[in-house]
Amino acid sequence: MRIAVLTSGGDSPGMNAAIRAVVRRGIANNSEVYGIYHGYKGLLNGDFVQMTAGSVGDIIQRGGTILRSSRCDEFKSEEGQLKGIEQLKQREIQGLIVIGGDGSFMGAKKLWDKGFLTVGVPGTIDNDIASTDVTLGFDTAVNTVLDSIDRIRDTATSHERTFVIEVMGRDRGDIALWAGLTGGAESILIPEIEVDMQDIVKRLQQGYDRGKKHSIIIVSEGVSSGAKVAEALKEETGFDTRVTVLGHVQRGGSPTAFDRMLGSRLGAKAVDLILAGDGGKMVGMNKNRVVSVDFENVFNKELKINQDMYNVSKTLSI
Ligand code: ADP
Ligand code: F6P
Repeated sequence: MRIAVLTSGGDSPGMNAAIRAVVRRGIANNSEVYGIYHGYKGLLNGDFVQMTAGSVGDIIQRGGTILRSSRCDEFKSEEGQLKGIEQLKQREIQGLIVIGGDGSFMGAKKLWDKGFLTVGVPGTIDNDIASTDVTLGFDTAVNTVLDSIDRIRDTATSHERTFVIEVMGRDRGDIALWAGLTGGAESILIPEIEVDMQDIVKRLQQGYDRGKKHSIIIVSEGVSSGAKVAEALKEETGFDTRVTVLGHVQRGGSPTAFDRMLGSRLGAKAVDLILAGDGGKMVGMNKNRVVSVDFENVFNKELKINQDMYNVSKTLSI
């Protein structure tokens, strides 16, 4: 069988491990595997290359994606999708694996609906995809944020300052919640829970009265900018406050063991589905088991924050 793989949308650490798994699992099953550069843009432009087992050597430890990524408006149109299928058929490619986020999966589902065999691998640092316990790159991003929190805590302690740290996640608060809880942040602001500024001020003040001289507040970008939160806190408390926006630092770096494992397992499973002709699905994790779910269950299911984890963070951050 001839299979193709592309990466699309925001890159995430572990995508290379997934590409490696797709290529080597495919070759091990007597398939030819093509890489498509620059996501859907490359699909439309015919930017294909045949991969060998050696072409994915020395990449499991690297962040980013060797196939590059893009956002492509042309692919959102029906005309664009038909052009994409034409490019695949011209090369006698029978199956496509899309590594990306929910936007990329919407594109993948359109191909499937038009009769092309397509499977998705959830790759995004945001952990904002339903029907999988975790997405590729999330663990690395959390650890990157955690490392920054630890460093900032050092200087916050020395200078007895309050620090507001803005983290990524789009509309999802998981990066903030996981890094905030494991980094011992005093307050964690996430889009899923209504922000009560007075409560945050009260907690800061209580901490200060008990002798605490520094504080870390984690703000998920889906709530507000770190700068605005810092301004409001400074006005209310008068504390010496600084802001750090971690930005794209969170998207890069060598993937953790967890993300390398995840990329390897999900990539291999995606090939198995393609070889079985079982498309229109995303591969994911459920209680440490690799599973596959219909794209419908990815788009139509509500994503909930782990309320218990949030409650624990509130209790511990006194
Ligand atoms: P992510 O996959 O990380 O969520 P985006 O939302 O930017 O990133 O989507 C990546 C790409 O997927 C888009 O640039 C576009 O080419 C394609 N895409 C997104 N939404 C759709 C859609 N509704 N129909 C077809 N293609 C889409
Ligand atoms: O979806 C991943 C992500 O890093 C989000 O956390 C962030 O909001 C967005 O992408 C940034 O996108 P860009 O790289 O286009 O600035």
